[in-house]
Amino acid sequence: MSTAQTHVLAYPFPSSGHVIPLIDLAKALVSRGVLVTVLVTPSNQPLVPTNHSPLLRTLLLPNPNLNRLVEIVAFMRENHYPTLINWARNHPSPPSAIISDFFLGWTLHLARDLNVPRLVFSPSGAFALSVSYSLWRNLPENDNPEDPDSVVSFPNIPNSPVYPWWQIPHQFRLAERGGPEWAFSQENMLLNIDSWGVVFNSFLDLEQDYFDHIKKELGHQRVWALGPLLPLTEPENRGGSSTVSCHDLIEWLDSRENSSVVYVCFGSRTFLTSSQMEDLTRALELSGVHFVLSVRVPDERHAAQDHGRIPSGFGDRVRGRGFVIEGWAPQLVILSHRAVGSFLTHCGWNSVLEGLVSGVVMLTWPMGADQYTNAKLVVDQLGVAVRAAEGTEKVPEARELAKRIEGSVGRRKERVRAEELRDTALRAIKENGTSQKELDALVKQLHDLKHQQPNTI
Ligand SMILES: *[C@@H]1O[C@H](CO)[C@@H](O)[C@H](O)[C@H]1NC(C)=O
Ligand SMILES: *[C@@H]1O[C@H](CO)[C@@H](O)[C@H](O)[C@H]1NC(C)=O
Repeated sequence: MSTAQTHVLAYPFPSSGHVIPLIDLAKALVSRGVLVTVLVTPSNQPLVPTNHSPLLRTLLLPNPNLNRLVEIVAFMRENHYPTLINWARNHPSPPSAIISDFFLGWTLHLARDLNVPRLVFSPSGAFALSVSYSLWRNLPENDNPEDPDSVVSFPNIPNSPVYPWWQIPHQFRLAERGGPEWAFSQENMLLNIDSWGVVFNSFLDLEQDYFDHIKKELGHQRVWALGPLLPLTEPENRGGSSTVSCHDLIEWLDSRENSSVVYVCFGSRTFLTSSQMEDLTRALELSGVHFVLSVRVPDERHAAQDHGRIPSGFGDRVRGRGFVIEGWAPQLVILSHRAVGSFLTHCGWNSVLEGLVSGVVMLTWPMGADQYTNAKLVVDQLGVAVRAAEGTEKVPEARELAKRIEGSVGRRKERVRAEELRDTALRAIKENGTSQKELDALVKQLHDLKHQQPNTI
């Protein structure tokens, strides 16, 4: 191996929605001749392709068998840190940069120990990260805790977004402000802000104002938009094997008219509550549309949570017009099928990007984290989506929801916009597209850094 090799340590947060795009980023770097070591745990190791390239390697670290974010991150810091220091110091071609998930702020300390730059990997968009950075830097208060609709505004962020307090991420709203969990989250975010650079799974034309804002806030230009990071060649295997026969599903979709099917999915982490599930399945029954419904199946780790299940007899009642998937669905295959016209989504960022590159109209039902911001972006700023519901608080009754679902396949204005935006997204990742140019610029900068004394990190 040449000593001039740029070697990046790619460190995901170990949940599929965070691991998958970081692996796509790793492959993009490998395509430019960068050696990448992806840090994996036994549970997400299968997501990294074997034999992709000799430049794509993995290092196996212990699994945090824990559920809560704070505990997982604390486990990783405690158990992975010493192993990584040792590994890096004894490596024949030590890493020259760390790209780590935005939940892993502590890796800035690791990077400083190794005297290399740390880049934040944001699996969310630039608008969402602008809101997070502003929250943890400026610490807005809830002025009127008695009022359920009390709002928080962000006048410094482009388009001055405003949120009811209940839509602010849970980590920030913890009753015990300044308590150990809250402080942990704050420290994490401030370490991200202090890091050398940020890499986004987004593209410039999608969120230009917010990229400009982030650069201004950070006071430097080391911000790269490399997305949408998607494997457009083998979409059926993204994130694992599907639990349904792709063949049956495609056959079913092939027999439908163009843009007539609604795809309904709330992502890999979200469970609907019993009442949300009841409302949704009732609405799908009432709507009369053709649909594919994909739901997450709980395992023993989720026994204590309220999770809705598909009501008995539902399959029979929608026979012929509903295709139900319980488990992992080949989402990109479904979304890019000509028969799919709209996408009822929780607005997780990966889903939003997959919806965008497929040119479908989105129906938004955000439930937490950055999803309210993502919904604002696609509905209010991009014009490719319409609102369906919000959280558990603002859920329309089933008949109204049915109308919104039915209406979504006939939305002309949003469809035209969605198709334009799909073309823009695909252009960004083609040769000479903005995301490709940003990738080249990042690789060049990482390479140049390797040849300087990195005192400025
Ligand atoms: C349906 O969509 C396909 C692919 O986009 C297109 O080739 C075909 O002409 C469309 N059919 C109709 C009836 O519009
Ligand atoms: C990309 O840009 C290079 C240099 O300007 C040019 O030679 C090449 O033809 C371009 N490729 C495409 C697909 O536009």
